[in-house]
Amino acid sequence: MSGDRVELTFCDKSIYETGILTSKNFPILKNNRLLKAAKGETPDKLPIWIMRQAGRYLPEFKELRKKHGFFEICQEPYLACNVTLMPIKRFDFDAAIIFCDILVIPQALKMIVEMGDKGPYFPEPLTLENIHKLDSEGAISRLDYVGKAITLTRHKLEGAVPLFGFSGAPWTLMAFMIEGGGSKTLSKAKKWLYAHKKESHNLLKLLTDVIIDYFVMQVEAGAQILQLFDTSAEYLNKSLYTIYGLPYLKRIREEVRDKLKKNNLEDVPIVLFAKGASFCLEDQAKLGYEILGVDWTVNIEEMKRDANVTYQGNLDPCALYAPKEDLERYVNDMIKKFGVHRYIVNLGHGIYPDMDIAAVQTFIDTVHNVKVI
Ligand code: CP3
Repeated sequence: MSGDRVELTFCDKSIYETGILTSKNFPILKNNRLLKAAKGETPDKLPIWIMRQAGRYLPEFKELRKKHGFFEICQEPYLACNVTLMPIKRFDFDAAIIFCDILVIPQALKMIVEMGDKGPYFPEPLTLENIHKLDSEGAISRLDYVGKAITLTRHKLEGAVPLFGFSGAPWTLMAFMIEGGGSKTLSKAKKWLYAHKKESHNLLKLLTDVIIDYFVMQVEAGAQILQLFDTSAEYLNKSLYTIYGLPYLKRIREEVRDKLKKNNLEDVPIVLFAKGASFCLEDQAKLGYEILGVDWTVNIEEMKRDANVTYQGNLDPCALYAPKEDLERYVNDMIKKFGVHRYIVNLGHGIYPDMDIAAVQTFIDTVHNVKVI
């Protein structure tokens, strides 16, 4: 990061009285490594951020979670802002990602989502019988708190790094809504794809429409880049993903671009992270996304790259458990394979909650020590 790094400060509720939530007069961006890599330009150093960087491996996050519920933090902009800032204050990451969750969309569709010991769950999962209760009317205004958190965070970042907005992809949201929580097979959700095709497409279309408007709202609020998480893509094969995944992903990229233009907003790059869908990376490259996230199972030497796309990934999250020298070697080897152009360094999935802070520091330092120019 550049030498003129400022000390970022946390905020409390009184910040709302300053009128900051309505001001779009954002500070100038100082670190544009990530946005440069997204455009195919060469930054001074390789950009790095990590999925779930604002989470439970941080002692300060665990401390805050003792006092506040998970969705309470998501819904209270000053808390979401403070958690987003935590990893940026501690490390030289080249991007921040707004603290939230992909399941806030089903919540905004009026499904109940609760946080249990093993993660979020739906006490009443989606069925063919209760699907009519999904209410997309006004869903974006029910997600207004995400926009507020983004606007506030964009100010509080003081231009240190760009801010990511994000959403779950249609299939991943559909899968969670039907399964009601974690599942080893997703057989309930996949049953719809084989036995209830029309209902599946109706649901995916409804989710796609909401995601498009949610992304536009996030950019309007101040998000400088977006990531679409299709974490459950790994449960589908190429033929299912060609029918139930790719067409909706294409619509999202195209319609976000169109709507931003219509609203006189600048287009922003979007990362598509279709975990476990390396069976169709070449098809993904044709959807219009500027960046493709690559999960940790992909062998970069065998991957066919598209010259117009930037790639992001893909260190095995467990590699951070390795001794320092081994970790440095894994990171340097990965960068040798990806090369320094059109590349954003990340893990190949989210960081684990028991990860040592020192390993994250080693990861970042190793990346920033690589000579780019
Ligand atoms: O730092 C960041 O990346 C921003 C915040 C973020 C969270 N969830 C916070 C979170 C992001 C980008 C997500 C995305 C998300 N949420 C995904 C896609 C990415 C992925 O990891 O696959 C998915 C599938 C979810 C749904 C979800 N939320 C699950 C399955 C779980 C439980 C498993 C787990 O990792 O804990 C969550 C909970 C969650 N989301 C936590 C955090 C910090 C931990 C919950 C807690 O604090 O008690």
